[in-house]
Amino acid sequence: MVSAKNKHVTHIALDLLPLLAGKHGTLFLDEWAYPISQEGAALAAHRGAHLVSFPHNEGQALAAALQSTASNGERVIVCNGVYSAGGYPAALRSFLRVAGEFGVLIYVDDAHGVGILGEHPGPGCPYGRGGGGICAYLSLPAGRIVHVGSLSKAFGVPLAFVAGPAAFIDYLEANAGTFIHSSPPDLPSLAAALAALQVHARYGEQLRTRLAQSTARLRAGLHQQGINLVPNRQSFPRGCGCAGAGDWLAGGSNYQAKCLNSYPGQNYRSPGNASINTLLRFHSSTDP
Ligand SMILES: Cc1ncc(COP(=O)(O)O)c(C=O)c1O
Repeated sequence: MVSAKNKHVTHIALDLLPLLAGKHGTLFLDEWAYPISQEGAALAAHRGAHLVSFPHNEGQALAAALQSTASNGERVIVCNGVYSAGGYPAALRSFLRVAGEFGVLIYVDDAHGVGILGEHPGPGCPYGRGGGGICAYLSLPAGRIVHVGSLSKAFGVPLAFVAGPAAFIDYLEANAGTFIHSSPPDLPSLAAALAALQVHARYGEQLRTRLAQSTARLRAGLHQQGINLVPNRQSFPRGCGCAGAGDWLAGGSNYQAKCLNSYPGQNYRSPGNASINTLLRFHSSTDP
């Protein structure tokens, strides 16, 4: 079941994580969970919840943390669907096994997966089909996942949604502060979302194929020029605020001094490789 009353993933995180944890619950945060999830978790902690951080993408460490943390309340795992600074997915298959073993939910912020990743990835369509996001891409069963997505990246519209077990969505709609005490999304955004979804229904596969091709071309061209891209097995783009566009991060000592001087605030650290400071961002779109 899906609820789409929110304007931003940011609202959802601030609403949902305290609600999921309650006063007595525990949130198990991947250490690289997006800052907005960390903010939502901090708010949950302020209301009494317990927070446990576990090493990035480490299913075994997560299991050990769950094993050693007793809780009277709910226990919820919190992670991204795709890690934008590295362009790779969360270890969701492993997390889901752990979640099943301990009977807990997983909150997935899939801002960068929705509209890009989808089911049945293969040689002709490396990002998969349908744009349903990371859960479709990894063929994950529903049931233990609260899937939070944003239209603000691949669709270019500032709206967000939550999908999850029906009972949980009912509870959310009746209790979440930004659903109850905030005005609904504005009509122009809703109209833009409808238009973007129509474009997606008609051209989605074509645009995703083109995006994958332009990603491959860009990476190969940069490599030829001696620019080290952040290692990225999947080459998932990091969604930007316009339809079908993505950007990629490059790093390496050659660029470090120059970029640190030029953009002191822009020193992104790659979660995939903490020793690399990513320093340049390249933007590519599906336009020919
Ligand atoms: C992983 C992730 N989650 C959430 C957001 C914020 O989404 P929204 O603009 O819908 O609040 C971003 C924005 O860049 C993001 O990268």
